[in-house]
This record gives sequence, structure tokens and C-alpha cells, in this order.
Amino acid sequence: MEVKDKVVIITGASSGIGEATAKLLSKNGARVVLAARNLKKLEDLSKELKESFVVKTDMTKEEEIKNLIQKTEEHFGRVDILINNAGQGYDAPVEKISTQTFKSLFELDLLGPTIAMKEVIPLMKKQGRGSIINISSGTALMALPNMSAYSSLKRAVVGMSLTANEELKEDNIKVSVVYPYITLTDFEKNTIKDGVREENWENNDPDFQPPDTAEYIAEKILEAIKTGRPEVFAHNWMSSH
Ligand SMILES: NC(=O)c1ccc[n+]([C@@H]2O[C@H](COP(=O)([O-])OP(=O)(O)OC[C@H]3O[C@@H](n4cnc5c(N)ncnc54)[C@H](OP(=O)(O)O)[C@@H]3O)[C@@H](O)[C@H]2O)c1
Repeated sequence: MEVKDKVVIITGASSGIGEATAKLLSKNGARVVLAARNLKKLEDLSKELKESFVVKTDMTKEEEIKNLIQKTEEHFGRVDILINNAGQGYDAPVEKISTQTFKSLFELDLLGPTIAMKEVIPLMKKQGRGSIINISSGTALMALPNMSAYSSLKRAVVGMSLTANEELKEDNIKVSVVYPYITLTDFEKNTIKDGVREENWENNDPDFQPPDTAEYIAEKILEAIKTGRPEVFAHNWMSSH
């Protein structure tokens, strides 16, 4: 789908990949709806982006997610594209996983995106088309120590996306999953850590690939919208992992 004049909801638009995506899509003529908890950041960003609209949203709260979709429909009369990007990392060895933290991460990384999908699908069906982009992670393709909780949630995002894509084929709604690689954002700073030592990380693996910028991943998200491909990887080598 082309993005010009389309109404696009972007969750987690106050920082990193979401913010870069909002800027890129707006530059390409989309009308962007900026969602996250930090209202000041969203309002500052909105001043830069023509025809953008802000809805303060906590993606762990079902009523706030419903409000996001409802306010978007009231303001623009439609929703063409949903980008489920809000998320947080969690580093902990399995034996140290906090039940409470895992439950709250489940709500943010998996249930929130699912509720947002549930809310936009009927509108997209009425409109006769739509595009949903779910942000997973390269960790969904790998077995990295301390990332079991986060990786399992991001794997579940893949299952949700691929299945929904099959379900919605006849309704002309494409569901794509995008797998970012390590990306230079506040993600690492915001990652919750239980039972892992804070240390100055040094990578000596000669095959280690340098991190990406948020702007690079925003281009991959745009590619997913334009092509409707079910899976888009930050780098081709990730698909064979
Ligand atoms: N950076 C990486 O290396 C990397 C790699 C693979 C996948 N990813 C995925 O990419 C996505 C974006 O992450 P990022 O790298 O841009 O990280 P980031 O800079 O930490 O941004 C995270 C965004 O999520 C929002 N958010 C967090 N909790 C929220 C909540 N309860 N309700 C609504 N919004 C919430 C934050 O906004 P507020 O705090 O204002 O709510 C912020 O806008 C995430 O799904 C992440 O898992 C990142």
C-alpha cells in the first residue's frame, strides 16, 4: 500500500523506531497518529509533522487502546495502517524471571498489539483494505542467553502476525511482521534487568554486525507497508538464522 494521504497509527511514537517511522511516513505524505505515554514528547514531535494527531495511550490498558482507535476514527474518519511498535525488553535468566514483570511485559509486547489489531480489523474490513505492521525482534529468531522472556513474547508476535495475515487475506488486509536487529535507540536503557550483571559489554565476535539506526528500521517498516510481505527482516542474513 502507498502511504500518501493514509491514516497511520504508530504506537511508541515518542522515541526511537516509532519516532523515526512517524517522521518518515509523514514526509511521504501520511497523516500520522502518535501514541505513547509521554504526552510532551508526542506534542513536540507533532509540531514538526503536518496533519499529525496525538493520542496519549498506555498500551497495557485496554480502555486506552480502544480510545486510541476511537479518537483516530473520530478525527480522520478512518484507519488505513496500524504500526504496533511500542515495546520494552527484559533481560533475565529463566530462574530469575519475575512473574509480575513477565505478566506486565506480556501485556505490553503481546496483548496490547493484539487488542489494537482487534479494534482496527472491523474498520479495515468496512473500508475494504488495510495494513498492520507488528514489530518483533531478531531475538525471536535466535537463542540468546537472558532473553527467554522477551524472545518468547516476540516469537508470539510472529505467530499472531502470520496467522492473522492468513485469516485476513480475503479481506484485503495485509499483516506483516518486521524484525529489527540491534538498533540505536533508548531500548537498551529502558530494558528491565533481573539477575544480570551490568557490565561494559564488549563484543569480540568477528562476525558481529554493527547496530542499525532507527531511521534504517523505519525504511524497513515503509517497505513492509508498500510490499505487504508477511515478513521483513532488517538484514537478509537474519532470515536464515
Ligand atoms: N532497539 C532495538 O535494538 C530493538 C531490536 C529489536 C526490536 N526492537 C523493538 O522495537 C520497538 C521499538 O523500540 P525502540 O528501539 O524504539 O525502543 P525505545 O526507544 O525504548 O522506544 C520504546 C517506545 O515504546 C513506548 N512504550 C513503552 N511502554 C509503553 C506503554 N506502556 N504504552 C505505550 N507506549 C509504550 C515508549 O513510549 P513512552 O515511554 O512515552 O510510553 C517508546 O516510544 C519495540 O517493540 C522493541 O521491542 C528494538
